Amino acid sequence: MKQPENVMEFLPKSLTSQQIYKLLIGGVSPRPIAWVSTVSKNGVNNLAPFSFFTVASANPPVLCFNPMSTDKGVEKDTLANIREQQEFVINSVSYQDLAVMNQTCHQLPAEEDEFEYAGVEKQTSTLVTPYRVKQALVSFECRLNQIVDLGHEPMAGHLVLGDVVAIHVRDDAVNDFKIDSEKLDAIGRMAGNDYSLTREKIQLNR
Ligand SMILES: Cc1cc2nc3c(=O)[nH]c(=O)nc-3n(C[C@H](O)[C@H](O)[C@H](O)COP(=O)(O)O)c2cc1C
Repeated sequence: MKQPENVMEFLPKSLTSQQIYKLLIGGVSPRPIAWVSTVSKNGVNNLAPFSFFTVASANPPVLCFNPMSTDKGVEKDTLANIREQQEFVINSVSYQDLAVMNQTCHQLPAEEDEFEYAGVEKQTSTLVTPYRVKQALVSFECRLNQIVDLGHEPMAGHLVLGDVVAIHVRDDAVNDFKIDSEKLDAIGRMAGNDYSLTREKIQLNR
């Protein structure tokens, strides 16, 4: 069947990785944000946001996110820490956390504590070593299930799957296991510097 004239077709094989990246993040939008805390083998705490993030399985409970290699092909500290320590915490990001979350996306030297750098208060976890983010409404303690390395080129994905071993929710924000979405006040990542809010909702019966 002939393509309609008002559609542009892009074939990844003929594009640069930057061009493909722009099409991917613009076309898969908005994305939820995982604020991932890890710790290095030397005990340095790391915190960084990742929007290539979703639920992979409810039973067993598995979350996944994707720390890509940089545009120079270097693996990020979060990934290095998870490869070494096999543990991480995924913390939620509410609208009020936006500015401080943004402080944690700087590519700092591996020896620098990103909680300290961004002024984020730590909270000990129950079953894993990395701290949780105290101000986060929801935190998921995870143990590594597996890493799916999707390549070794610049911007290659490394899909991290984590078994959820403990879930923390601020007590005024959960009732009968339902999390209050107004209190969560989640934000989504779009392309470039754009974020979306979740304050406007619609209901639809199944
Ligand atoms: C809202 C937001 C979402 C991001 N999502 C991703 C992502 O999904 N994958 C990724 O590799 N980097 C993502 N980044 C960039 C990382 O947070 C950034 O590279 C960070 O410095 C990685 O930290 P690390 O080297 O300490 O692991 C995102 C940044 C922001 C602000």
